[in-house]
Amino acid sequence: MILTILGAPGAGKGTLASALSEVIGIPSISTGALLRNEIASGSELGVYIDSLISKGNFVPDDIMVRILLNRLKSEDCRRGYILDGFPRNADQARHLIDYGINLTRALLLDISDDVIVSRLGGRRECVSCRRTYHIADNPPKKEGICDVCGNALRIRSDDDKEIIKNRLKIYHKETEPLISFFERKDLLSRIDASKSVEETRNAAFKILGV
Ligand code: AP5
Repeated sequence: MILTILGAPGAGKGTLASALSEVIGIPSISTGALLRNEIASGSELGVYIDSLISKGNFVPDDIMVRILLNRLKSEDCRRGYILDGFPRNADQARHLIDYGINLTRALLLDISDDVIVSRLGGRRECVSCRRTYHIADNPPKKEGICDVCGNALRIRSDDDKEIIKNRLKIYHKETEPLISFFERKDLLSRIDASKSVEETRNAAFKILGV
């Protein structure tokens, strides 16, 4: 099974991808996390990527595709995977087709910009395994500590009000047109992502029959 989760920044893509990954037993691959790993490596490429992400701008398609394809070569992707944050524009969608990646389904997390701003304001991310939480709606069992690996939680640097505005602007311009792209291919399923984490997850399970 190969899935992609589409949605605005903060729509809950990572949260849903983790839940699906646990239930289906295939990895969830966040392109944002791949890029943050490259930044953490301290490479020259990482410094360049940081200069873009920190302003909320996209990384050029050739770099993004190279990093993603490298990850997809891993053994754990043989049975399928969940793409969280790819494709994000028409060219990236064309790359999927060119590389013969046949999506089983594209799940769209539908949500308004107002809810996004509140969600990202309360988001916390694990410094180590990158699992995300929300201080009110999806809190860790112990404040400030990751349930999964026990490391500290932090606020992501691009969860700043002005940067969120830019990320949303780019989403509406570049990524939203993909909704009709996947609709035309009869691959799109919409999920009301303003509902709770559990309701959103259950809606996805129902669509996928898992
Ligand atoms: P990325 O890390 O993918 O950021 P994003 O798309 O902006 O999405 P987020 O990770 O912010 O949000 P999410 O939808 O995963 O929501 P989450 O589950 O965390 O990418 C970062 C950057 O990398 C991009 O801005 C871009 O620069 C670059 N990049 C990435 N991919 C790229 C590509 N393909 N091409 C070019 N550049 C690329 O949830 C958010 C919060 O809400 C959390 O606190 C969570 O606990 C909470 N929450 C989740 N669901 C619910 C719910 N149902 N109810 C209540 N709270 C909820």
